[in-house]
Order: sequence, then structure tokens, then C-alpha cells
Amino acid sequence: MHVAIIMDGNGRWATQRGLPRTAGHIEGAKAVRAVVETAARANVDTLTLYAFSSANWSRPTAEISALMRLFGQYLFTETRRCVEQSIRLNVIGRRDRLSENLLRSIEQSEKSSAAGSGMLLRLAVDYSSQHSILRAAQRAGRDADLSADAYQRLLNEVDHCAYSVSAVDLLIRTGNERRLSDFLLWESAFAELHFSDCLWPDFNEQRFQCALDDYGGRQRRFGGLSAKTL
Ligand code: IPE
Ligand code: IPE
Ligand code: MG
Repeated sequence: MHVAIIMDGNGRWATQRGLPRTAGHIEGAKAVRAVVETAARANVDTLTLYAFSSANWSRPTAEISALMRLFGQYLFTETRRCVEQSIRLNVIGRRDRLSENLLRSIEQSEKSSAAGSGMLLRLAVDYSSQHSILRAAQRAGRDADLSADAYQRLLNEVDHCAYSVSAVDLLIRTGNERRLSDFLLWESAFAELHFSDCLWPDFNEQRFQCALDDYGGRQRRFGGLSAKTL
């Protein structure tokens, strides 16, 4: 099972408490750890977390720097925990606009966790689905016979996906917004959507379980008919 999460609401969480937005991002990073461990225990095969969108570059420089710093810290502290739990790490998205330091940390984390046999944790950083789809289409050129699988492989190359993964089964968005914000548009073609009012720093094991239960009650048809109807 592939679960993807749009982790939204850090800024509002902080503002509600009279704190700077970065305090919300710090708290949000703590919520990530709990959700990663819960997902691994729930036998999720792939967990893709939206950490920084390409559109987020339009935020104030101080907020962007804080987010990048936190991301580096996350890789530094969490890679070892991931290795201990056999979790493989892969950062997806553009790499041409990240700092040299961050790039080195990403490569190091990916390398040291690559032998894991458990869950794949993908962090989407400087990620834009539209950008990836465009770049992959450019690579495809005029190949009229290109299959969806072959196109997916081109997308994986563009996104620095180190492992082939199945399509998104469950897409969760926290923060009381009902939109996709340019996240995994191709990969979520038949995903089930779960929107939570909870702001990301408040997201915990129980709420994750609630999303899984919601998903468990859905009937997926992929354009066909349910077994009962047939
Ligand atoms: C999500 O929280 C984290 C990132 C986008 C990096 P926001 O920062 O978007 O929080 P809100 O939506 O402003 O509350
Ligand atoms: C989406 O949240 C991006 C991440 C969670 C990383 P945003 O807060 O940036 O999205 P919008 O502005 O609500 O579309
Ligand atoms: Mg937001």
C-alpha cells in the first residue's frame, strides 16, 4: 500500500498560539517521526510526504531557510533511526535548486539506508507534479507507442525516484484544505482521498489510524463495477 500525505497547517498551528510560523514547522517535523513509525508498523509499503513544494519558494526567505535547515536536521537525526528500522529513504523532486550541503546529506541518507528491506519513505522536496510531468513529456519526445509504465519510468528519472513504486492508494491532506497543490498528480489517478481538519503538528498515530480505517471502508472500482453488482 502506498500512502501519500500533504502535511499542511504548520503555520496556522503556530499563529493560533501566538508563535512564529517556524515554530509550527519545528513541531511539524516532530509529527513526522511519529507518523513514519506508525506507517511502518501498519505495513505501509511506501509513504510519500510532501515537505516542500516548488511553489513554496515564493515564501519569505527566512521561512525558506528555516525549512531547509529543518530538513537537513531531519536527515541528520532520522537517518539512523530509519536504518535501525530497515526504512529506506528517498528524496524526490528537483535537485538543481538545493544547497550543496543539503544535496550531500540527501545522498548520504539515501546511500546508508538503501539496504533496508522495510518501508520506503519518500520525502518530496522542491517537488512540483506539473514540472515533472512536463520534463518527462519532453524526454518522451514523439514516441507514440510509449506505454504508461515507460512514461512512469521517465517520471521516476526526472523526480530522482530511486525505487519503482506502485500508484498512490491513499492520499491524506491535513490542515482543512481540500486541494492537491501540485502533488503526485499522475501517481494519484485512482487514489482515495482523505481530508483531515487537523493541523499537521497535531497529526498523530490515532489520526493516521483513522485515515487508514476510512480507506478500509472505501470500495475501489477503478472504473469497473463492484463484485456485488456483477
Ligand atoms: C505546511 O504548512 C508546510 C509547508 C508548506 C512547508 P504551512 O506552512 O503551509 O502551514 P499553513 O498552511 O500556512 O498553516
Ligand atoms: C502544500 O501546502 C505543500 C506542502 C505541504 C509541502 P501549501 O500550504 O504550500 O499549499 P497551498 O498554498 O495551500 O496550495
Ligand atoms: Mg499551507
